[in-house]
Amino acid sequence: MARTPPLAAMLPLLLLAALSATANAASRPHPLDPLSPAEITAVRSAVLASPLVPARPLSFHYVGLDEPDKLDVLAIAYHSTRRALARTPLPRRAFVIARAGGASHELRVDVTNTSAPRVLSHAVHAGAGFPTLTLDEQFDAVALAPKYRPFQESVRRRGVAMDDVLCAVFPVGWFGGEATTRVAKMLCFVAGGTANFYARPIEGVTMVVDLDAMAIVEYKDRVRYPVPKAEGTDYRAGKTGKPPFAVPEPAPGVVVQPNGSGVHIDGHVVRYVRHLNSLIT
Ligand SMILES: *[C@@H]1O[C@H](CO)[C@@H](O)[C@H](O)[C@H]1NC(C)=O
Ligand SMILES: *[C@@H]1O[C@H](CO)[C@@H](O)[C@H](O)[C@H]1NC(C)=O
Repeated sequence: MARTPPLAAMLPLLLLAALSATANAASRPHPLDPLSPAEITAVRSAVLASPLVPARPLSFHYVGLDEPDKLDVLAIAYHSTRRALARTPLPRRAFVIARAGGASHELRVDVTNTSAPRVLSHAVHAGAGFPTLTLDEQFDAVALAPKYRPFQESVRRRGVAMDDVLCAVFPVGWFGGEATTRVAKMLCFVAGGTANFYARPIEGVTMVVDLDAMAIVEYKDRVRYPVPKAEGTDYRAGKTGKPPFAVPEPAPGVVVQPNGSGVHIDGHVVRYVRHLNSLIT
């Protein structure tokens, strides 16, 4: 059984490694850098060209770096052990979650050479869980509401102008069992007169949207409450007005850093306090 060295014993090594990285990291990309626009474009064309997922339309719900092995990352980024390996860049791979033909697909794509991307693996996700919502499908779903006759009637009965109505979709959650259709709940609000439309819900109305069929499949208007008024709901500084919100400005403070902030940003790597490195994505 392999034994993990205690962290305390490893710290000096790591610090040394990090210090030496400071001098070298600027010269090449970090293996944990996020996918570049060229890599994302290559991922897209590889997935669309793959015979493994012939169904259309195909939508991308997640495209991100398929992180290389941690030991390889340490060797490359910090030069600490395998010097030879440090000279060869690690393969660049992407992990993809796509939706097509009513199924959720998971793919790994090699984009080390963006002119010749390759799909390395493909699987259809089985069991619970659906990919995150895309912006496109959210726009398509909310566009269904104003055209849906029962909703038009509900809005009219509440004395609200449809032009003031704003809808949003929310995942329905998972409560156990097999969920076979990918649905979302749609709730609507009155956006006229305030930026804080969440304070003005059209209560009692719920809609369920089937995102694959892109259709409203369930509609309920159970109870009619008055829509809260717009006055006093805005949270923006210039709109809040009266106390307790209109408090005086706090006394000014000054931070002095005579030799600069000490934070250095190099690509996606942030360095500070000599031995700490962070990756921003
Ligand atoms: C990348 O792929 C292209 C197209 O197949 C090929 O012409 C080129 O030689 C490859 N580059 C490398 C570095 O392998
Ligand atoms: C700021 O930098 C100068 C020149 O490198 C150095 O002499 C000085 O000690 C530094 N000051 C502080 C407060 O670290």
